[in-house]
Amino acid sequence: MYLSLFTAIVCASGALSSILTAPCKINDLNCLENGIKSAIPQFLSGISDLGIEPSDPQFLEIIEGNFSGMKYTLYNTTIFGYDKCKLSNLKLSEDFKKVHSEANCSFLSMSGEYEISGQLISIPIEGKGHFNVDSAEFIITVDYKTKKYQNSDGKSHLYIEDFNVKAQPLNAKYNFQNLFNGQKELADTVHKFIRENWLKITELFQYPVWNTSFKKMVNNMNMFLKNVALEDISSN
Ligand SMILES: *[C@@H]1O[C@H](CO)[C@@H](O)[C@H](O)[C@H]1NC(C)=O
Ligand SMILES: *[C@@H]1O[C@H](CO)[C@@H](O)[C@H](O)[C@H]1NC(C)=O
Ligand SMILES: *[C@@H]1O[C@H](CO)[C@@H](O)[C@H](O)[C@H]1NC(C)=O
Ligand SMILES: *[C@@H]1O[C@H](CO)[C@@H](O)[C@H](O)[C@H]1NC(C)=O
Repeated sequence: MYLSLFTAIVCASGALSSILTAPCKINDLNCLENGIKSAIPQFLSGISDLGIEPSDPQFLEIIEGNFSGMKYTLYNTTIFGYDKCKLSNLKLSEDFKKVHSEANCSFLSMSGEYEISGQLISIPIEGKGHFNVDSAEFIITVDYKTKKYQNSDGKSHLYIEDFNVKAQPLNAKYNFQNLFNGQKELADTVHKFIRENWLKITELFQYPVWNTSFKKMVNNMNMFLKNVALEDISSN
């Protein structure tokens, strides 16, 4: 499963002269897509030799959500479960300018410290403390804007210039500790409101999290892509 990545990295670092698996032809998109897919688990667990830190768990120092009427900041957030996402679709465009991916992520969770104030749709919310999100399930679609360039080694590499993430929430359970500085009645009201309106709340307020998370993921992907030439990717 990790062979193609292993081959690619070893080749990239020049340590292996004989190629174990025949590399993809540069115009064989299907082969390249499969090669990239098979590298994902290794990518997510991090590749210290290339300076790529793990994306599962993923640590995010700060996430800022700024909406009209409400703002939140999440500190020291850890996201777990990207490695259990099932990639259902990965497409490269023929000109290598676009990559599309779809994943079913059924085992995500997240925890950290939060600070929130303002209006949560129709009720006031205020608080600061520990939070976690459990049983989070999302279909995550990402469209990457990419560029193919020639490295000094004469080989082709991909670079991600921009991305757009869309997420469809299927489930999410929220727990905010110390809402309203611990005033139980006010906190209970908010918890009940969140349970009953989790879908709408998630749809409205999720994107600062995805944008921040994928921004970091894309930085790591670019570090990876810089080290792996398209000519060295093989499909199994
Ligand atoms: C949040 O948005 C308001 C108004 O759009 C702006 O004045 C403020 O600087 C923003 N704060 C942050 C932290 O981005
Ligand atoms: C986040 O973690 C850093 C380093 O451990 C710590 O100094 C900081 O106080 C934490 N922030 C919050 C809001 O807990
Ligand atoms: C996503 O995966 C879960 C569990 O693996 C499955 O139950 C669900 O049907 C899948 N959803 C979609 C839209 O593929
Ligand atoms: C997330 O990023 C997209 C561009 O990729 C941008 O259009 C959108 O406004 C961002 N949303 C938030 C909440 O930052």
